[in-house]
Amino acid sequence: MTIHDALKNLVLDHIAVAVDDLDKSVLFYQNLGLVFEDEREVVEEQKVITAFSPIDHNTHLELLTPYGIKKEDGAIFQYLQKKGPGIHHLCFTVLNLEQKCFELKALGVQFLYSQAKIGAKKRLVNFIHPKSAGGVLIELSQKIE
Ligand code: CO
Repeated sequence: MTIHDALKNLVLDHIAVAVDDLDKSVLFYQNLGLVFEDEREVVEEQKVITAFSPIDHNTHLELLTPYGIKKEDGAIFQYLQKKGPGIHHLCFTVLNLEQKCFELKALGVQFLYSQAKIGAKKRLVNFIHPKSAGGVLIELSQKIE
């Protein structure tokens, strides 16, 4: 496999940052030079609202903050309570999520969900447990055609 083939198989899609105040954080990164999509996306499954900004052709910054009447039940609310704002996860795009999860599980890697779920941008997603990844939460995501 060439390096270029390998790069197509795993692309850094976004770096997700948990924030207390979405508008304030958007402004900070705008001052840094990033340009955000106008639309904010609510991800019901995670009980968050997100703001996306491209960093380059592949990679985005994703700001996440708890959202909705049941936001206290969401993982991001609990993360902020426990650890405060900061980098929450890295997300890599894979070509075939089911196959990648199967391969990694065979190596003993643990996932948060037994089945892939629908994440932001209507992607199929699952998360590698930080215990299996040196303390880093890693999202794997597949575009749905
Ligand atoms: Co994400």
